[in-house]
Amino acid sequence: MSLQKITTKDLIEKKKKGEKIVTITSYDYSFAKIVDKSGIDLILVGDSLSMVMLGYKNTLSVTMNEMIHHTKAVSRGASNALIVGDMPFLSYKVDVKEAVKNAGRFIQEGGAEAVKVEGGTEICPTIDAIIKADIQVMGHIGLTPQAIYKFGGFLVQGKTVEAAKRIILDAKNLEETGVFSIVLESIPWQIAKLITSIVDVPTIGIGAGPYCDGQILVIHDMLGIFTDFKPKFVKYFGNIGESISNALDNYKNEVINGIYPSGEHSYEFPQQDLNKINQWFDNVDICEEAHKLT
Ligand code: KIV
Repeated sequence: MSLQKITTKDLIEKKKKGEKIVTITSYDYSFAKIVDKSGIDLILVGDSLSMVMLGYKNTLSVTMNEMIHHTKAVSRGASNALIVGDMPFLSYKVDVKEAVKNAGRFIQEGGAEAVKVEGGTEICPTIDAIIKADIQVMGHIGLTPQAIYKFGGFLVQGKTVEAAKRIILDAKNLEETGVFSIVLESIPWQIAKLITSIVDVPTIGIGAGPYCDGQILVIHDMLGIFTDFKPKFVKYFGNIGESISNALDNYKNEVINGIYPSGEHSYEFPQQDLNKINQWFDNVDICEEAHKLT
């Protein structure tokens, strides 16, 4: 059964109806296909792929070309979920024109339907320009991982009155600029709840408590595949890392002990033709025959 493609309007409608929005990251065709089948509303091709797919220590290393490469794979796998491409570090904060062009690459080359950018009020003119190019934008405030060196690490944001006020005002400005949704990352739940109540666009929380309109997690975190570190907000909904290890142990064991492959996994050659091969083999100089092909 093929469902209809989810749109940004559908997500806003869900907020109005009080229905929760479920979103997740994905970075390749096979995962995107499984995620899509589960009825998840939105797939973010997150720059978290820098860490969980490419093994960098943070999200700052991934490039536009790498992001496009993975977005293409995801868009080939997902036909129902809304696909959002995450604009990587330096792809939208240097120059507004370049930001619009890079956002456009996610749509034109990657097959995404929207992009996400990190930042508050200071990024609104860029968001405005991207939206004017008919590209839908998701905001992201609170702990914005592209700014970890400014923050001094992956630290909870909005913990003081002043910092919380700034995040609230940023959310309001993002809404006014026209984002269709706002990711709230690693902020106290009370501040996330307040923001959720004062903006009409859906808030998507990650480490922002239960009162957001929706939630997002990095798929490799929630499946227990990426275990280098575990933020407080991550819950393992599966232990796929362990399942993969068990499967590999079984594979290794069966190959070493001659159990795999069995007849069931092997191709058959007809016996009468095999006789011909054997007869031929008995009557030729195999090296000479092989040499004739060169
Ligand atoms: O890159 C990412 O995966 C993200 C989400 C976790 C919000 O930005």
